[in-house]
Amino acid sequence: MTDLFGGAAPYYARYRAGHGEQAIEHLATTFGPDSSVLDLGCGPGTVAIPLARHVREVTAVDPDEEMLAEGRRLAAEVPDIRWLRGDSTMLRTLPPFDHVVMGRSFHWMDRRTVLAELDELLPPDGVVALVGPGRDPGEDPWEPTMRRVRAEFGLGPMRATNSYQATGEHHHDVLATSPFRDLSSTVYERRLAYDLDAVIGLQLSYSFSAPAHLGDRLEAFTDAVRKALLASNPSGRWEHVEATEVLIARRAPA
Ligand SMILES: C[S@@+](CC[C@H](N)C(=O)[O-])C[C@H]1O[C@@H](n2cnc3c(N)ncnc32)[C@H](O)[C@@H]1O
Repeated sequence: MTDLFGGAAPYYARYRAGHGEQAIEHLATTFGPDSSVLDLGCGPGTVAIPLARHVREVTAVDPDEEMLAEGRRLAAEVPDIRWLRGDSTMLRTLPPFDHVVMGRSFHWMDRRTVLAELDELLPPDGVVALVGPGRDPGEDPWEPTMRRVRAEFGLGPMRATNSYQATGEHHHDVLATSPFRDLSSTVYERRLAYDLDAVIGLQLSYSFSAPAHLGDRLEAFTDAVRKALLASNPSGRWEHVEATEVLIARRAPA
């Protein structure tokens, strides 16, 4: 298992926006209250924690021990979540589940192999759900500035090997040629506000600028980010509309 997000977990938990209530309710309605759900690539429980109160149980799996620790800490009051260290290559070793959800994590996996294995493991009405930025995520308002700072530090963008950027294939395309080709996509939009600390914290939540990746340049990087962001926007406040897609994939009817 790799260390893609070394040191990012607390920043991820604090500064990455969740998927929003509407997306979680959509997932909950799709899965149903008596279901057992696998959250694969759960991170600090971004989906698992809000979903847990709507379903019977959630198994939250991630290869990154720091992410799991953050999730366990945040979910101290939430029962019915089983946190397990593992990854998409270990699906057969996991306790049985009725449905699977992947929040911003499918791009890290060998997507076709995962779907073929899920076809063997999920019950006939089992659903594969993806939640995340969708096909046309747009650009954060601070991204042009951040691109310059990352370039100065020789950072990324490190693309997940199975992302659209790396392969030219959207998740939609991969699903459409899989056993789970009956697709339904819903996009929810929310206006989100960020202050300077939130934008800086967000940078440390990304794999390509995670603290472990920066090593002893962490402080120099955050100083440079702060200066560049304030130079481009002295108010230190940003707003943007975040689109979250819930993509539900079912087996095609025979
Ligand atoms: C961007 S985070 C997503 C966290 C959370 N699910 C969300 O919706 O925000 C991606 C997570 O996928 C995990 N991951 C990376 N490779 C994986 C794999 N092959 N199988 C399962 N999880 C993986 C990472 O450790 C990381 O926690």
